[in-house]
Amino acid sequence: MVAGDTAISTVGKEGLGLTYRGYSIDDLAEKATFEEVAYLLIYGRLPKATELEEYRQRLASRRGLPSALKTVLEQVPADAHPMDVLRTGCSALGCLEPESRERGQDQVADRLLASFPSMLLYWYQFHKTGRRIETQTEDRSMAAHFLHLLSGRPPDAMHERAMDVSLILYAEHEFNASTFTVRITTSTLADFYSAITSGIGALRGPLHGGANEAAMELIEKFKTPDEAEAGLMTMLRNKELVMGFGHRVYKISDPRSDIIKRWAKKLGDAADDTRLYPISERIEQVMWREKKLFPNLDFYSAAAYHFSGIPTPMFTPIFVISRTSGWSAHVIEQRGNNRLIRPTADYTGPPPRPFVPLAQR
Ligand code: COA
Repeated sequence: MVAGDTAISTVGKEGLGLTYRGYSIDDLAEKATFEEVAYLLIYGRLPKATELEEYRQRLASRRGLPSALKTVLEQVPADAHPMDVLRTGCSALGCLEPESRERGQDQVADRLLASFPSMLLYWYQFHKTGRRIETQTEDRSMAAHFLHLLSGRPPDAMHERAMDVSLILYAEHEFNASTFTVRITTSTLADFYSAITSGIGALRGPLHGGANEAAMELIEKFKTPDEAEAGLMTMLRNKELVMGFGHRVYKISDPRSDIIKRWAKKLGDAADDTRLYPISERIEQVMWREKKLFPNLDFYSAAAYHFSGIPTPMFTPIFVISRTSGWSAHVIEQRGNNRLIRPTADYTGPPPRPFVPLAQR
Protein backbone atom coordinates (compact mmCIF):
# COMPACT_ATOMS: atom_id res chain seq x y z
CA MET A 1 0.00 0.00 0.00
CA VAL A 2 1.44 3.39 -0.97
CA ALA A 3 1.34 5.74 2.03
CA GLY A 4 3.09 8.83 0.71
CA ASP A 5 5.91 10.29 -1.38
CA THR A 6 9.63 10.28 -0.66
CA ALA A 7 12.79 11.30 -2.51
CA ILE A 8 15.08 9.59 0.02
CA SER A 9 15.23 5.91 -0.99
CA THR A 10 13.71 3.13 -3.07
CA VAL A 11 13.13 -0.38 -1.72
CA GLY A 12 12.51 -3.34 -4.02
CA LYS A 13 11.64 -1.28 -7.11
CA GLU A 14 12.16 -3.49 -10.16
CA GLY A 15 15.76 -3.47 -11.28
CA LEU A 16 16.81 -1.09 -8.53
CA GLY A 17 16.93 -3.12 -5.31
CA LEU A 18 17.81 -0.54 -2.68
CA THR A 19 18.94 2.99 -3.49
CA TYR A 20 19.65 6.00 -1.28
CA ARG A 21 18.95 9.24 -3.19
CA GLY A 22 19.49 7.33 -6.43
CA TYR A 23 22.78 5.61 -5.50
CA SER A 24 22.81 1.83 -5.28
CA ILE A 25 23.48 0.20 -1.93
CA ASP A 26 26.25 -1.89 -3.55
CA ASP A 27 28.15 1.22 -4.62
CA LEU A 28 27.63 2.94 -1.27
CA ALA A 29 28.71 -0.10 0.76
CA GLU A 30 31.82 -0.50 -1.37
CA LYS A 31 32.89 3.07 -2.04
CA ALA A 32 31.43 5.37 0.63
CA THR A 33 31.77 5.84 4.37
CA PHE A 34 28.88 6.07 6.82
CA GLU A 35 29.45 9.81 7.34
CA GLU A 36 29.18 10.38 3.58
CA VAL A 37 25.97 8.37 3.49
CA ALA A 38 24.47 10.20 6.48
CA TYR A 39 25.28 13.51 4.78
CA LEU A 40 23.73 12.26 1.54
CA LEU A 41 20.53 11.22 3.29
CA ILE A 42 20.14 14.32 5.45
CA TYR A 43 21.33 17.03 3.05
CA GLY A 44 20.20 15.37 -0.18
CA ARG A 45 23.53 15.15 -2.04
CA LEU A 46 27.01 13.68 -1.68
CA PRO A 47 29.38 16.02 0.19
CA LYS A 48 32.48 17.51 -1.40
CA ALA A 49 35.76 16.62 0.34
CA THR A 50 35.83 19.81 2.48
CA GLU A 51 32.15 19.43 3.41
CA LEU A 52 32.74 15.84 4.46
CA GLU A 53 35.71 16.81 6.61
CA GLU A 54 33.69 19.58 8.29
CA TYR A 55 30.81 17.18 8.86
CA ARG A 56 33.11 14.56 10.43
CA GLN A 57 34.57 17.18 12.73
CA ARG A 58 31.15 18.53 13.65
CA LEU A 59 29.89 15.05 14.54
CA ALA A 60 33.11 14.24 16.43
CA SER A 61 32.78 17.42 18.51
CA ARG A 62 29.28 16.41 19.67
CA ARG A 63 30.12 13.10 21.34
CA GLY A 64 30.29 14.45 24.90
CA LEU A 65 27.29 14.02 27.22
CA PRO A 66 25.91 16.68 29.59
CA SER A 67 26.31 15.70 33.24
CA ALA A 68 22.53 15.65 33.82
CA LEU A 69 22.21 13.04 31.06
CA LYS A 70 25.00 10.96 32.62
CA THR A 71 23.06 11.03 35.89
CA VAL A 72 19.94 9.80 34.10
CA LEU A 73 21.92 7.00 32.42
CA GLU A 74 23.42 5.95 35.74
CA GLN A 75 19.88 5.62 37.14
CA VAL A 76 18.73 3.30 34.33
CA PRO A 77 19.08 -0.21 35.81
CA ALA A 78 21.99 -2.45 34.78
CA ASP A 79 19.55 -5.08 33.53
CA ALA A 80 17.50 -2.67 31.39
CA HIS A 81 17.42 -3.46 27.68
CA PRO A 82 19.89 -1.20 25.81
CA MET A 83 17.03 -0.13 23.49
CA ASP A 84 15.30 1.30 26.56
CA VAL A 85 18.54 3.12 27.41
CA LEU A 86 18.54 4.84 24.00
CA ARG A 87 14.82 5.58 24.14
CA THR A 88 15.29 7.17 27.57
CA GLY A 89 18.53 8.92 26.59
CA CYS A 90 16.91 10.45 23.50
CA SER A 91 13.97 11.70 25.50
CA ALA A 92 16.19 13.08 28.29
CA LEU A 93 18.43 14.92 25.82
CA GLY A 94 15.27 16.46 24.37
CA CYS A 95 14.59 18.01 27.80
CA LEU A 96 18.17 19.21 28.27
CA GLU A 97 18.87 20.50 24.76
CA PRO A 98 15.40 21.09 23.27
CA GLU A 99 14.88 21.95 19.65
CA SER A 100 14.40 25.71 19.33
CA ARG A 101 14.91 28.66 17.02
CA GLU A 102 18.59 28.69 18.03
CA ARG A 103 19.01 24.91 18.01
CA GLY A 104 17.55 23.90 14.65
CA GLN A 105 16.75 20.50 13.17
CA ASP A 106 20.15 20.01 11.51
CA GLN A 107 21.89 20.57 14.84
CA VAL A 108 19.59 18.12 16.63
CA ALA A 109 20.19 15.51 13.91
CA ASP A 110 23.97 15.90 14.29
CA ARG A 111 23.75 15.76 18.05
CA LEU A 112 21.67 12.59 18.15
CA LEU A 113 23.81 10.82 15.55
CA ALA A 114 26.99 11.73 17.40
CA SER A 115 25.79 11.01 20.92
CA PHE A 116 23.79 7.77 20.66
CA PRO A 117 26.97 5.61 20.81
CA SER A 118 28.12 7.70 23.77
CA MET A 119 24.83 7.22 25.65
CA LEU A 120 24.77 3.49 25.07
CA LEU A 121 28.36 2.84 26.06
CA TYR A 122 28.46 5.29 28.96
CA TRP A 123 25.55 3.38 30.53
CA TYR A 124 27.10 0.01 29.61
CA GLN A 125 30.56 0.72 31.04
CA PHE A 126 29.17 2.40 34.16
CA HIS A 127 27.17 -0.68 35.07
CA LYS A 128 29.67 -3.28 33.85
CA THR A 129 32.92 -1.82 35.12
CA GLY A 130 31.83 0.99 37.47
CA ARG A 131 33.83 3.47 35.34
CA ARG A 132 32.47 6.82 34.19
CA ILE A 133 34.08 6.81 30.73
CA GLU A 134 35.00 9.85 28.66
CA THR A 135 32.88 9.67 25.52
CA GLN A 136 34.46 12.63 23.71
CA THR A 137 37.16 10.73 21.77
CA GLU A 138 39.38 11.64 18.81
CA ASP A 139 38.23 8.72 16.63
CA ARG A 140 37.72 9.76 13.00
CA SER A 141 34.56 7.76 12.35
CA MET A 142 31.37 6.87 14.18
CA ALA A 143 32.25 3.21 13.63
CA ALA A 144 35.62 3.62 15.37
CA HIS A 145 34.08 5.71 18.16
CA PHE A 146 31.56 2.96 18.92
CA LEU A 147 34.11 0.11 18.91
CA HIS A 148 36.61 2.18 20.90
CA LEU A 149 34.11 2.95 23.68
CA LEU A 150 33.04 -0.70 23.73
CA SER A 151 36.45 -2.35 23.99
CA GLY A 152 38.54 0.48 25.45
CA ARG A 153 40.91 0.65 22.49
CA PRO A 154 40.67 1.95 18.90
CA PRO A 155 39.69 -0.83 16.45
CA ASP A 156 41.89 -2.14 13.64
CA ALA A 157 41.07 -1.09 10.08
CA MET A 158 39.15 -4.27 9.21
CA HIS A 159 36.79 -4.13 12.20
CA GLU A 160 36.25 -0.40 11.74
CA ARG A 161 35.35 -0.85 8.07
CA ALA A 162 33.04 -3.79 8.80
CA MET A 163 31.17 -1.64 11.31
CA ASP A 164 31.14 1.28 8.89
CA VAL A 165 29.59 -0.89 6.16
CA SER A 166 27.00 -2.22 8.56
CA LEU A 167 26.03 1.34 9.51
CA ILE A 168 25.65 2.15 5.79
CA LEU A 169 23.40 -0.88 5.24
CA TYR A 170 21.12 -0.04 8.18
CA ALA A 171 20.93 3.72 7.47
CA GLU A 172 17.69 3.96 5.50
CA HIS A 173 14.83 1.82 4.20
CA GLU A 174 11.89 3.93 3.00
CA PHE A 175 8.54 3.63 4.86
CA ASN A 176 9.36 0.73 7.21
CA ALA A 177 7.50 0.60 10.53
CA SER A 178 9.85 2.80 12.57
CA THR A 179 10.37 5.39 9.82
CA PHE A 180 6.65 5.64 9.25
CA THR A 181 6.23 6.09 13.00
CA VAL A 182 8.80 8.90 12.88
CA ARG A 183 6.85 10.54 10.05
CA ILE A 184 3.53 10.22 11.87
CA THR A 185 4.95 11.91 14.97
CA THR A 186 6.57 14.59 12.81
CA SER A 187 3.30 15.20 10.98
CA THR A 188 1.67 16.39 14.24
CA LEU A 189 4.35 19.16 14.34
CA ALA A 190 5.97 17.53 17.38
CA ASP A 191 9.67 18.19 18.05
CA PHE A 192 12.59 16.23 16.57
CA TYR A 193 13.36 14.27 19.75
CA SER A 194 9.74 13.08 20.06
CA ALA A 195 9.86 11.78 16.51
CA ILE A 196 13.10 9.87 17.05
CA THR A 197 12.00 8.54 20.44
CA SER A 198 8.85 7.08 18.91
CA GLY A 199 10.93 5.56 16.11
CA ILE A 200 13.11 3.78 18.65
CA GLY A 201 9.99 2.33 20.27
CA ALA A 202 8.74 0.95 16.96
CA LEU A 203 12.15 -0.46 16.04
CA ARG A 204 12.48 -2.42 19.26
CA GLY A 205 10.20 -5.36 18.40
CA PRO A 206 11.52 -8.64 16.94
CA LEU A 207 9.45 -8.33 13.74
CA HIS A 208 11.48 -5.20 12.94
CA GLY A 209 14.88 -4.18 14.37
CA GLY A 210 14.88 -6.73 17.16
CA ALA A 211 15.27 -9.54 14.59
CA ASN A 212 19.10 -9.33 14.59
CA GLU A 213 19.24 -10.13 18.30
CA ALA A 214 16.68 -12.90 17.94
CA ALA A 215 18.69 -14.39 15.02
CA MET A 216 21.83 -14.52 17.18
CA GLU A 217 19.97 -16.25 19.98
CA LEU A 218 18.83 -18.88 17.50
CA ILE A 219 22.24 -19.44 15.86
CA GLU A 220 23.93 -19.77 19.25
CA LYS A 221 21.57 -22.55 20.33
CA PHE A 222 23.23 -25.01 17.96
CA LYS A 223 26.62 -26.70 18.15
CA THR A 224 26.81 -28.05 14.59
CA PRO A 225 25.16 -27.42 11.19
CA ASP A 226 23.38 -30.80 11.41
CA GLU A 227 21.95 -29.90 14.78
CA ALA A 228 20.83 -26.56 13.33
CA GLU A 229 19.12 -28.31 10.42
CA ALA A 230 17.23 -30.65 12.75
CA GLY A 231 16.25 -27.73 15.01
CA LEU A 232 15.04 -25.68 12.06
CA MET A 233 12.92 -28.54 10.69
CA THR A 234 11.20 -28.81 14.08
CA MET A 235 10.59 -25.06 14.18
CA LEU A 236 9.12 -25.06 10.69
CA ARG A 237 6.90 -28.04 11.51
CA ASN A 238 5.63 -26.08 14.52
CA LYS A 239 5.07 -23.04 12.28
CA GLU A 240 7.49 -20.95 14.34
CA LEU A 241 8.96 -17.80 12.83
CA VAL A 242 12.68 -17.88 12.11
CA MET A 243 13.98 -14.41 12.83
CA GLY A 244 16.17 -12.78 10.19
CA PHE A 245 14.25 -14.36 7.27
CA GLY A 246 11.61 -12.98 4.95
CA HIS A 247 10.61 -9.45 4.15
CA ARG A 248 7.40 -7.53 3.53
CA VAL A 249 8.70 -5.75 0.41
CA TYR A 250 11.57 -7.85 -1.02
CA LYS A 251 10.29 -11.06 -2.55
CA ILE A 252 13.42 -12.79 -3.94
CA SER A 253 16.32 -11.52 -1.86
CA ASP A 254 17.42 -8.65 0.36
CA PRO A 255 20.17 -6.77 -1.54
CA ARG A 256 21.92 -5.96 1.76
CA SER A 257 22.25 -9.58 2.84
CA ASP A 258 25.03 -10.69 0.46
CA ILE A 259 27.11 -7.66 1.44
CA ILE A 260 26.93 -8.30 5.17
CA LYS A 261 27.32 -12.05 4.59
CA ARG A 262 30.71 -11.46 2.95
CA TRP A 263 31.75 -9.39 5.97
CA ALA A 264 30.50 -12.04 8.38
CA LYS A 265 32.69 -14.61 6.60
CA LYS A 266 35.74 -12.35 6.69
CA LEU A 267 35.29 -11.49 10.37
CA GLY A 268 34.59 -15.12 11.22
CA ASP A 269 37.81 -16.24 9.50
CA ALA A 270 39.75 -13.58 11.41
CA ALA A 271 38.23 -14.87 14.66
CA ASP A 272 39.07 -18.52 13.73
CA ASP A 273 35.38 -19.37 13.80
CA THR A 274 34.48 -22.88 12.70
CA ARG A 275 31.00 -23.00 14.18
CA LEU A 276 28.73 -19.96 13.87
CA TYR A 277 29.27 -19.11 10.21
CA PRO A 278 28.76 -22.70 8.97
CA ILE A 279 25.65 -22.95 11.16
CA SER A 280 24.33 -19.68 9.71
CA GLU A 281 24.90 -20.93 6.16
CA ARG A 282 23.10 -24.18 6.88
CA ILE A 283 20.12 -22.28 8.32
CA GLU A 284 20.06 -20.19 5.15
CA GLN A 285 20.09 -23.34 2.97
CA VAL A 286 17.30 -25.01 4.95
CA MET A 287 15.10 -21.89 4.88
CA TRP A 288 15.47 -21.63 1.11
CA ARG A 289 14.96 -25.36 0.49
CA GLU A 290 11.91 -25.65 2.75
CA LYS A 291 10.18 -22.26 2.49
CA LYS A 292 11.86 -20.31 -0.32
CA LEU A 293 12.66 -17.71 2.33
CA PHE A 294 15.89 -15.70 2.10
CA PRO A 295 17.94 -14.00 4.82
CA ASN A 296 17.27 -10.32 5.37
CA LEU A 297 19.93 -7.87 6.58
CA ASP A 298 19.42 -8.90 10.18
CA PHE A 299 20.46 -12.53 9.77
CA TYR A 300 24.16 -12.24 8.82
CA SER A 301 24.49 -8.96 10.73
CA ALA A 302 24.13 -11.12 13.83
CA ALA A 303 27.25 -13.18 13.07
CA ALA A 304 29.18 -10.11 11.85
CA TYR A 305 28.50 -8.26 15.11
CA HIS A 306 29.25 -11.32 17.20
CA PHE A 307 32.66 -11.73 15.54
CA SER A 308 33.32 -8.04 16.24
CA GLY A 309 32.95 -8.67 19.97
CA ILE A 310 29.61 -6.86 20.28
CA PRO A 311 27.25 -8.17 22.97
CA THR A 312 23.96 -9.43 21.49
CA PRO A 313 21.65 -6.91 23.29
CA MET A 314 23.53 -4.11 21.52
CA PHE A 315 22.62 -5.31 18.03
CA THR A 316 19.34 -3.41 17.77
CA PRO A 317 20.80 -0.24 19.36
CA ILE A 318 23.39 -0.21 16.54
CA PHE A 319 20.44 -0.19 14.16
CA VAL A 320 19.20 2.94 16.01
CA ILE A 321 22.62 4.60 15.79
CA SER A 322 22.67 4.11 12.03
CA ARG A 323 18.98 4.64 11.25
CA THR A 324 19.01 8.01 13.01
CA SER A 325 20.45 9.30 9.72
CA GLY A 326 17.50 7.99 7.68
CA TRP A 327 14.95 8.99 10.33
CA SER A 328 16.39 12.51 10.40
CA ALA A 329 16.10 12.76 6.62
CA HIS A 330 12.44 11.71 6.90
CA VAL A 331 11.69 14.26 9.65
CA ILE A 332 13.14 16.99 7.42
CA GLU A 333 11.30 15.74 4.33
CA GLN A 334 7.97 15.40 6.15
CA ARG A 335 8.30 18.92 7.55
CA GLY A 336 9.12 20.25 4.09
CA ASN A 337 5.63 19.36 2.81
CA ASN A 338 3.64 18.49 5.89
CA ARG A 339 0.13 17.19 6.18
CA LEU A 340 -1.15 15.38 9.29
CA ILE A 341 -0.95 11.61 8.69
CA ARG A 342 -4.31 10.28 9.79
CA PRO A 343 -5.49 7.07 8.13
CA THR A 344 -8.98 5.70 8.58
CA ALA A 345 -10.06 2.15 9.43
CA ASP A 346 -12.68 -0.28 8.17
CA TYR A 347 -15.12 -0.62 11.06
CA THR A 348 -15.78 -4.23 12.15
CA GLY A 349 -17.68 -3.61 15.43
CA PRO A 350 -21.39 -3.84 16.34
CA PRO A 351 -24.01 -1.76 14.48
CA PRO A 352 -25.41 1.36 16.19
CA ARG A 353 -27.41 0.37 19.32
CA PRO A 354 -29.09 2.06 22.31
CA PHE A 355 -26.96 2.75 25.38
CA VAL A 356 -27.75 0.45 28.35
CA PRO A 357 -27.77 2.27 31.72
CA LEU A 358 -25.48 0.80 34.40
CA ALA A 359 -28.34 -0.54 36.56
CA GLN A 360 -29.79 -2.57 33.65
CA ARG A 361 -26.56 -4.34 32.56
N1 COA B 1 10.04 -17.80 9.40
C1 COA B 1 9.13 -18.74 9.10
N2 COA B 1 8.09 -18.51 8.30
C2 COA B 1 7.98 -17.30 7.76
C3 COA B 1 8.91 -16.28 8.01
C4 COA B 1 9.96 -16.57 8.86
N3 COA B 1 10.88 -15.66 9.14
N4 COA B 1 8.55 -15.17 7.34
C5 COA B 1 7.43 -15.48 6.67
N5 COA B 1 7.09 -16.76 6.93
C6 COA B 1 5.95 -17.46 6.40
C7 COA B 1 4.66 -16.92 7.02
O1 COA B 1 4.35 -17.59 8.23
C8 COA B 1 3.68 -17.21 5.93
O2 COA B 1 3.36 -18.58 5.95
P1 COA B 1 1.87 -19.09 5.65
O3 COA B 1 1.59 -18.64 4.23
O4 COA B 1 1.96 -20.56 5.81
O5 COA B 1 0.98 -18.40 6.65
C9 COA B 1 4.49 -16.97 4.66
O6 COA B 1 5.85 -17.19 5.02
C10 COA B 1 4.30 -15.61 4.05
O7 COA B 1 4.79 -14.61 4.93
P2 COA B 1 3.96 -13.32 5.34
O8 COA B 1 3.38 -13.53 6.71
O9 COA B 1 3.01 -12.92 4.26
O10 COA B 1 5.08 -12.23 5.44
P3 COA B 1 4.87 -10.76 5.97
O11 COA B 1 5.10 -9.85 4.82
O12 COA B 1 3.60 -10.58 6.71
O13 COA B 1 6.01 -10.64 7.05
C11 COA B 1 8.07 -10.33 8.07
C12 COA B 1 7.25 -10.11 6.80
C13 COA B 1 9.43 -9.69 7.88
C14 COA B 1 7.36 -9.66 9.27
C15 COA B 1 8.20 -11.85 8.31
O14 COA B 1 8.88 -12.43 7.21
C16 COA B 1 8.88 -12.16 9.61
O15 COA B 1 8.21 -12.19 10.67
N6 COA B 1 10.22 -12.41 9.59
C17 COA B 1 10.97 -12.65 10.80
C18 COA B 1 11.29 -11.34 11.50
C19 COA B 1 12.36 -10.55 10.80
O16 COA B 1 13.36 -11.08 10.35
N7 COA B 1 12.12 -9.24 10.73
C20 COA B 1 13.05 -8.33 10.12
C21 COA B 1 12.51 -7.82 8.84
S1 COA B 1 13.72 -6.86 7.97
